[in-house]
Amino acid sequence: MTTYDAIVLGAGAAGLMCAAIAGQRGRRVLLLDHADQVGKKILISGGGRCNFTNIHTAPDRFLSANPHFAKSALARYTPADFIALVERHGIAYHEKTLGQLFCDGSAKQIVAMLIEECAKAGVDVRTGQPVSDVTHADGKFAVRFGDQYFTAASLVIATGGPSIPKMGATGFAYDLARHFGLKVVEPRPALVPLTLGGDDVLFRELSGIAAPVEARAGKTAFREAALFTHKGLSGPAILQISSYWRHGESVTIDFLPDAPSGWLLDAKRARPRSTLRTALGAALPDRLAETLAERLALPGELAAQTDRKLVEAEAHLKRWTFHPNGTEGFAKAEVTVGGISTANLSSQTMMAKSVPNLYAVGEAVDVTGWLGGYNFQWAWASGHAAGQVI
Ligand code: FDA
Repeated sequence: MTTYDAIVLGAGAAGLMCAAIAGQRGRRVLLLDHADQVGKKILISGGGRCNFTNIHTAPDRFLSANPHFAKSALARYTPADFIALVERHGIAYHEKTLGQLFCDGSAKQIVAMLIEECAKAGVDVRTGQPVSDVTHADGKFAVRFGDQYFTAASLVIATGGPSIPKMGATGFAYDLARHFGLKVVEPRPALVPLTLGGDDVLFRELSGIAAPVEARAGKTAFREAALFTHKGLSGPAILQISSYWRHGESVTIDFLPDAPSGWLLDAKRARPRSTLRTALGAALPDRLAETLAERLALPGELAAQTDRKLVEAEAHLKRWTFHPNGTEGFAKAEVTVGGISTANLSSQTMMAKSVPNLYAVGEAVDVTGWLGGYNFQWAWASGHAAGQVI
């Protein structure tokens, strides 16, 4: 039985950061992962280039039952802090869009950087064995890893959420949290494509077509591209809105987010001989324009339509209602909404309020970022917060 100051379970983004920071403070840290390799999700992130942070990080870009919870950790480890680390390691990067920073080269560089930070800090990293029999007695946590046992004064749960199980993701964090009496906010797949059925099923024929839209669920709207798929809807605008969408709710899409009010009436005046389909074709991809025009059922020239009908058609195009029948689930979800309840954790240190020296960080916690580097920033910031105190 080997004893450490801290055992970190899960060598993903949050666990690697947490272990490195604690190790650099002189703590003896053991980092355990059941996968054969550390940082597997980092490797596949951002299309292999890892969108490692977002320079517009702010607490309002995160979902949580307590929207204030993430503020403290995010303020104490900012995108600038992570960028400084990336630059110290000589990793070249660029802003792609909307503040999203990606490696110029490969996500492998981010994993190599974190491994180097852990090595420099003397972290003992072990992989490829199942973690089991986690217990707490006499102020010490004990963990079984394969057929070895380890103990430590502090234990950090950094095993992420259940999105993409084929990458080794599990609900282990929730099982452990419940074992220690912590609550878990119902986990749901997020940043995930939505599936369409019923009347909407015809839109699946547009599979592969994308358009800039504003997608809305309830009070939340995102203006980015939407993509039709053979199962339903995807693309950044839809992935973003999926985190807010609940079963049974509709999603509305504004297909003309840039068109000024009265756009179709103006089109009728400027080009009375054109059809609705050609007018829409000026703003949208051809096949989408065709499908929408067919559904609006206003055949013939614009000049033949009454102004009232065109005003109604425009209103319809700006609030097209889809009724998703589900999502593509955890198998396709980039992240998980929900997780270990923030009500049970300190926002300063990520320590459980009812179990001294038990911590939870990263995606395991009920804090979920928007698409675009926010989830990694939460992993770095929450890992750093716990790493400073364990
Ligand atoms: P993470 O999942 O990274 O790590 C958890 C670790 O725990 C894993 O190494 C796993 O093997 C281990 N583990 C799980 N169960 C265990 C068990 N029972 N026993 C032992 N170990 C166990 N975010 C972003 O900001 N920018 C991006 O570009 C992307 N891109 C992206 C693409 C894809 C395809 C996905 C699926 C996700 C993203 N994300 C993203 C989200 C991002 O990957 C995610 O938010 C972070 O990896 C979460 O970091 P954690 O360390 O909390 O969990």
